[in-house]
Amino acid sequence: MSTDSLLYEGKAKQLFPTDDLQVLRVVYKDSATAFNGEKKAELEGKGVLNNQISKLFFDYLTKHGVEHHFIEMISDYEQLVKRVSIIPLEVVVRNIAAGSLVKRVGLAEGTQLSRPIVEFYYKNDGLGDPLMNQDHIAMLELATSDQVGHMRQIALQVNDILQLYLEQKGLVLVDFKLEFGVDPSGTLLLADEISPDTCRFWDNVTGKKLDKDRFRQDLGNVLEAYQEIYQRLGGASHA
Ligand code: TMP
Ligand code: ASP
Repeated sequence: MSTDSLLYEGKAKQLFPTDDLQVLRVVYKDSATAFNGEKKAELEGKGVLNNQISKLFFDYLTKHGVEHHFIEMISDYEQLVKRVSIIPLEVVVRNIAAGSLVKRVGLAEGTQLSRPIVEFYYKNDGLGDPLMNQDHIAMLELATSDQVGHMRQIALQVNDILQLYLEQKGLVLVDFKLEFGVDPSGTLLLADEISPDTCRFWDNVTGKKLDKDRFRQDLGNVLEAYQEIYQRLGGASHA
């Protein structure tokens, strides 16, 4: 297969094969979507920032012993990753009430949760990515109960690591979404991306939102917020 032939296109990324069967090339797009694709825009430079930010997070997780699919960045908007078979679940960890949790349970935005909570959503655009419990996951055979337990454990570990790291950068990790895949040997690996598209970050002094909520809620200065995250994580300034 030609290495230029698109294997998969999602809302924010494209996947291409490489000469190595076990390695894929990810292209981060500038497209931004929200509300299951209902709201759309092209934000020039978002792809580059998310590629760079994801790289920094994955490298940080490597240092803390978390295994993942990221191999290396090969250009401003491209990275190489290990080929995995994606488990069709979005694993969300929350520390503070925001977004859909506020709508579902009626807590005020900003309420500190007494402990982090983990939620699973079925990656299915046709159904609008519904919340799933462990019985639903087993019923649909989306993952084994071992995999569910393991994803939960890794997600909480990533939360502990990133919460501390971000605190040092003056940021609150409100919540985030992870995806996992299984490699050919059956090992569960953290996959997808970790970026302001998939996390909520608030400035810990002003409470300013520095993530995709700026786009979802029409708060303006979306790219400036992503740039701010990149710089706080040690990335170079593009100013
Ligand atoms: P939620 O509050 O809308 O359920 O989002 C929880 C977290 O998951 C938030 O950090 C944003 C992230 N997220 C995604 O990465 N992709 C999605 O499709 C959705 C709905 C949320
Ligand atoms: N990524 C999702 C979409 O495009 C939702 C979101 O992040 O709010 O609809």
